[in-house]
Amino acid sequence: MADKIMRVEHVSKRFDGLLAVDDVSLDFASGSITALIGPNGAGKTTLFAIVSGFLRPNGGRVLYRGGDITGQPSHRLARMGIARTFQIVQPFADLSVHENIAIGAHLSRPARAAALAAAAEVAGLVGLGDLLERRAASLTVSGGKRLELARALAITPTLLLLDEVLAGLNPSEIRDMLPVIRAIRDRGVTIVMIEHVMQAVMSLADTVHVLAEGRLIAEGPPLSIAGNSRVIEAYLGRGAAGRLAAVGGGNG
Ligand SMILES: Nc1ncnc2c1ncn2[C@@H]1O[C@H](COP(=O)(O)OP(=O)(O)OP(=O)(O)O)[C@@H](O)[C@H]1O
Ligand SMILES: [Mg+2]
Repeated sequence: MADKIMRVEHVSKRFDGLLAVDDVSLDFASGSITALIGPNGAGKTTLFAIVSGFLRPNGGRVLYRGGDITGQPSHRLARMGIARTFQIVQPFADLSVHENIAIGAHLSRPARAAALAAAAEVAGLVGLGDLLERRAASLTVSGGKRLELARALAITPTLLLLDEVLAGLNPSEIRDMLPVIRAIRDRGVTIVMIEHVMQAVMSLADTVHVLAEGRLIAEGPPLSIAGNSRVIEAYLGRGAAGRLAAVGGGNG
């Protein structure tokens, strides 16, 4: 069985009256691409925030490479190789693409020249190699997503958490990003991606975990998830799987 780089054990997170993450247990296999999917408000981003040290859980624990990292701050986890992107991209708008990426690279490379060189290499990997001197604010949506990805990659992560890096991209931009994500995995980086673009989930993910209303409702290979009636109902409402089957039967 594949090595587990991270294990989430019975993790819960409460916001006032709302149980945003409700007793979730799952794990991520080293060297794989895992997708985390589910309807809006399911708790996906909250789970990312917990495992990357931006939020403390109310219960449960998170193990990374076998060690308990629950509640450790994000800067320490970044040094341990856990990087995340943000659903709402937030670059330093007035800095260049190069400087924005170098900020992440500085974490492990105190010398400025080394950080800039590493940043340039990462920019090439995500397709921003020709835009290094551009102001971050001047990038297109797709450019901004690539920059967000590059900033996370610049810390040389072992585990990379991508929060909807394909959101807002058109179909051809999405197609262009798929090989970029695969190439990162092929360099040995374990990837967990929150994604609503199902075509990307189907084509990239080895394993899919489905959250709905804070709870893990299904997990498995992409094809098994696509036909899972609990998953269909989480997206389309109770009884939807039956209605779909009836329609299919009527037409077939
Ligand atoms: N800081 C917060 N304070 C209060 N409630 C929050 C906070 N962050 C998230 N929530 C709530 O927790 C629930 C889960 O939110 P979360 O952002 O994790 O969902 P998500 O699965 O990422 O959804 P989306 O697909 O829309 O990004 C939502 O009901 C949200 O409104
Ligand atoms: Mg989210």
